[in-house]
Amino acid sequence: MNETLDITISKADQSRLTVTDFSQLPFGKVFSDHMFIADFNNGEWSNLQVLPYGPVPMSPAISALHYGQAIFEGLKAYRQADGKISVFRADKNFERFNKSAHRMAMPSIPEEIFMQGIAALIEIDERWVPAQEGYSLYIRPVMFATDPYLGVKASDSYKFVLMTTPTGPYYSKPLTVKIETEYTRADDGGVGYAKTAGNYARSIYPFQEAMKEGFDQLIWTDAATHEFIEEAGTANLIFVIDGKLVTPSVRSTVLDGVTRDTIITLAKKAGIGVEERRVSVKEVIAGIENGSLTDAFAAGTAATVTPIGQIGYEGKLYTLTDPATRAISAGIAKTLNDIRYGLIPDEFGWNWTVK
Ligand code: COI
Repeated sequence: MNETLDITISKADQSRLTVTDFSQLPFGKVFSDHMFIADFNNGEWSNLQVLPYGPVPMSPAISALHYGQAIFEGLKAYRQADGKISVFRADKNFERFNKSAHRMAMPSIPEEIFMQGIAALIEIDERWVPAQEGYSLYIRPVMFATDPYLGVKASDSYKFVLMTTPTGPYYSKPLTVKIETEYTRADDGGVGYAKTAGNYARSIYPFQEAMKEGFDQLIWTDAATHEFIEEAGTANLIFVIDGKLVTPSVRSTVLDGVTRDTIITLAKKAGIGVEERRVSVKEVIAGIENGSLTDAFAAGTAATVTPIGQIGYEGKLYTLTDPATRAISAGIAKTLNDIRYGLIPDEFGWNWTVK
């Protein structure tokens, strides 16, 4: 890492730790005591500070609210078996953040601000990193446009904020998902590969409609034909077909998931075949029917590895193999967790020990 930055620290008068129930941690609702903020003005980042988590005063005219120049990331800090704290693959999230920034005509964030901001926040909120199995401190970086201006153009000013939230997995049970063939999450030439607010905004109404039909999540298909599977919006998708991991290849409409990449790497190392390619809906449905598809799961930082139990398509519900019998995804998920929690050697150098 480069030079040590000058970060102003203002500590919260009182910690909320004592009134936080660590046995009740729904995803993204409980925030730690502090946040990190940096401001972009006149072409440079400045005003780096760690301060008590809370409201950030803002004009209602800020362009992020009107035109959606807003990007985010999600990464996690884990309490290691030896008590230390490490952040998993922060470099990948940093890279993707700046890819999203580029596509959304926003300034890139320097690596030292991203990394030292995380380190400063974890240093001060160390006790917020849960020690329970399956839990972690979710770190949410966000950048948004702050010009109070109603013209449509790239903002000149931005805010970068890091907040953290102790959490368990996003999904608590195997998912019943619907293959979406009416609405579209992303189109070629669009912003599907960027982690930008609008991708999530456009998915909410179709998701609500699917929930009314009893589904937990959508499987998005390609905009042109709705014949190919893309991703789940909150996570990437991985199938096991004929004993091999099969996952939609990363393209302009699919997020390049860090967990997806990690699983592919671990599978290859374990000698499991991996195919990154276009995956048709037909192939998945046929695989369920003829028994060649033996496993399917969502893979993401928030979602971790969540089994898919049932898939709905064109009014029919297909039940997959019993998640309790799925050796491949269970094995990969275990290795992944063992690395994250420091229970086995981190031979790929994925853990960044912050504290
Ligand atoms: C993550 O996995 O970190 C995400 O950003 C997914 C989120 C939309 C819950």
